[in-house]
Amino acid sequence: MDKNTIKQRIEKLKAEINHHRYLYHVEDKQEISEGALDSLKNELFKLEQEYPEFVTADSPTQRVEGRVLEKFEKVAHEPALLSLFDAFSFQDMVDWEKRIGKFSISDFRFANSKIENRKSEIVLDYFCELKFDGLAMSLIYEKGIFVQGATRGDGKVGEDVTNNLKTIESIPLNLRIPDKLELEKSGFNQGQIGLLLDAVQNGKMVIRGEALMTKKVFQELNEKYAKEGKKPLANPRNGAAGSIRQLDPKISAERRLDFYVYAIGNAEELNLDTHEQELLIAKLLGLKVYADYKYCRNLDEVQKFYEQCEKRREKLPMEVDGVVVKVNNLKLWPVLGIVGKGPRYAMAYKFAAEEATTKLLDVVWQVGRTGTLTPTGVLTPVRVGGVTVSNVTLHNMDEIQRLGLKIGDTIIIERAGDVIPKVIKVLEGMRDGNEKTIDAPEKCPICGSKVERIAGEVAYRCTDKECYAVNLRRLAHWTSKGAMDIEGLGPKVVEQLVKAGLVRDIADFYSLREEDLKPLERFAEKSAENLVKAIAVKREVDLARFIYGLGIRHVGEESAIYLSKKLEVRSEKIIDLKNVVIKLSLADLEEFEDVGPIVAKSIFDWFRDEKNINLLDKLEKNGVVIRHQVTGNMQHSIFFGKTVVLTGTLSGLTRDDAKAKIRELGGKIASAVSKKTDFVVAGSEAGSKLEKANELGVKVLSEEEFLGMIKA
Ligand code: IVH
Repeated sequence: MDKNTIKQRIEKLKAEINHHRYLYHVEDKQEISEGALDSLKNELFKLEQEYPEFVTADSPTQRVEGRVLEKFEKVAHEPALLSLFDAFSFQDMVDWEKRIGKFSISDFRFANSKIENRKSEIVLDYFCELKFDGLAMSLIYEKGIFVQGATRGDGKVGEDVTNNLKTIESIPLNLRIPDKLELEKSGFNQGQIGLLLDAVQNGKMVIRGEALMTKKVFQELNEKYAKEGKKPLANPRNGAAGSIRQLDPKISAERRLDFYVYAIGNAEELNLDTHEQELLIAKLLGLKVYADYKYCRNLDEVQKFYEQCEKRREKLPMEVDGVVVKVNNLKLWPVLGIVGKGPRYAMAYKFAAEEATTKLLDVVWQVGRTGTLTPTGVLTPVRVGGVTVSNVTLHNMDEIQRLGLKIGDTIIIERAGDVIPKVIKVLEGMRDGNEKTIDAPEKCPICGSKVERIAGEVAYRCTDKECYAVNLRRLAHWTSKGAMDIEGLGPKVVEQLVKAGLVRDIADFYSLREEDLKPLERFAEKSAENLVKAIAVKREVDLARFIYGLGIRHVGEESAIYLSKKLEVRSEKIIDLKNVVIKLSLADLEEFEDVGPIVAKSIFDWFRDEKNINLLDKLEKNGVVIRHQVTGNMQHSIFFGKTVVLTGTLSGLTRDDAKAKIRELGGKIASAVSKKTDFVVAGSEAGSKLEKANELGVKVLSEEEFLGMIKA
């Protein structure tokens, strides 16, 4: 992309993000999910990092979102309610730790070694909590009495929603006063105890946390609304927002919200040592702290907790979209400071979003078992629902039209749980005019036959009934033992890959990635990894197998071996094979002693079909190379130039291995015994072929003799 295009894309992203942020924070409406919005923000953030000259002060990456609604009294926050920066991978967390490490943090060893014996050693440790998907609230208690509750607003000024918050049962109207002994036992020092009790009894306490609606209440309310014919709540977060930011506290009461504390706003005044102590205090004051938190000594422990939480996510009583990781040592917070919208001392380590935005690069048509053509969208690979998605089914032309989809569009895709990814929306505002309409296919992309629209249906179909089956056979032939011999890639798996839209031709096998395979049924991490490796090791292939694998009509294993020797292909480049064959006339090919006119014609035609030439180019592009075997002293072998027939059961080696060995030594394999046969290798229970050999006087070798000869 040139700079102008980048700038244009940045502007589009900013406008789109601002539009959705406004809906979300001010209007309490939501057109696209948090995940999709994060995806746009992430693209903007990355572009701005790469092109800092395009960062503007009004970029959504530069400020805390949310605006004050006119209908509530305004409340100034002290200290300000900050936002968190997001991390989407362990690497992001590692990078964050590196950034922290640049500060002189070692001067801030824990002073208080009473609470945890770990303290004198560790400078940088973490405290992890769930990232609740509700609304940030700041509560003020004066002399222990709840006097004011406010929304975040823009972080500096919020809305006074005290009356609505008073309907939340988990917000105490007055704080519990802990006794000294209790505080001592919890590890607070005398200074801290004095400051805390004074703030609770005579001064001010600032409590920060999240107001939210549990999933259970959300469901119950929606069932009730359905019965009453009322509009359902879109999601728990919307339910909570709608409850708090309206003027009638009766509605708030009906919504039965919950409140979980995640910070003490005036922790600095209380001279606390750790963030952990903030939560301890909240509990002692009678506030609710959700029990799923964890002290972590390092990022590996953070990662473990994160993974456990992500697994438990569905079962949690409230919606959670990640883990908030905070530097536990409070003395480090002012040292690390704040950058833009958020502090350096904390990170929102987000779970894999179920929705993300990406670009539709192309549409390819896949032929199904019944000949039906299904459009598959080729995407800029994007992580969604924990996997990388680079293809998505678009179902049919009607669906494409329903979505209003064009090639080049920025789209939202969803992958929830194990459900296959789907396109849920086109972001039309992101168009730049270069988008292309998607046309129905006229010809089958596999066999080139005519395509017809099935009467009364939305589907298009290839008129060649055998097309799908032929293609599958062709693909499975390529991976089969005699050709590439790719382990774990039998016909069933091949069909699975075709159905998933991952493989359309033999060259596609070489661009498969673990991320493509992992979401497929029966493809646990290990087998995905194994298959990708198994394909990679067979990227280098000898010419005979390569020719045989192409599936040229009438060119079997033996002809392929013969051709590989006859064709003077010296380099490892597929293009050289192409150049050598294309120069041969039909007569040249017919002159090869082992190639009859039918085979010659077949080869001749194959290399003149544009589709096949493109396939060869694609194979080369995908890294397939031809290996030239060192023939060594095979000319001295007894099998050199000889025709061998195998019959009966061999016990010392498989029939395929025996064949391979004979070929390696320059011999040819035939299936029937004739006068031209030089040897018949007879295993146990050899039948008619052995009889025929005896009849014709062909030399018969026992398995033992054969083994002795190939060793020699
Ligand atoms: S700490 C300095 N802890 O996430 C940041 N925030 O973008 C102070 N949130 O609107 C926030 N769970 O409402 C913190 N355990 C948690 C949280 C949490 C949810 C929300 C918070 C804020 C947003 C941060």
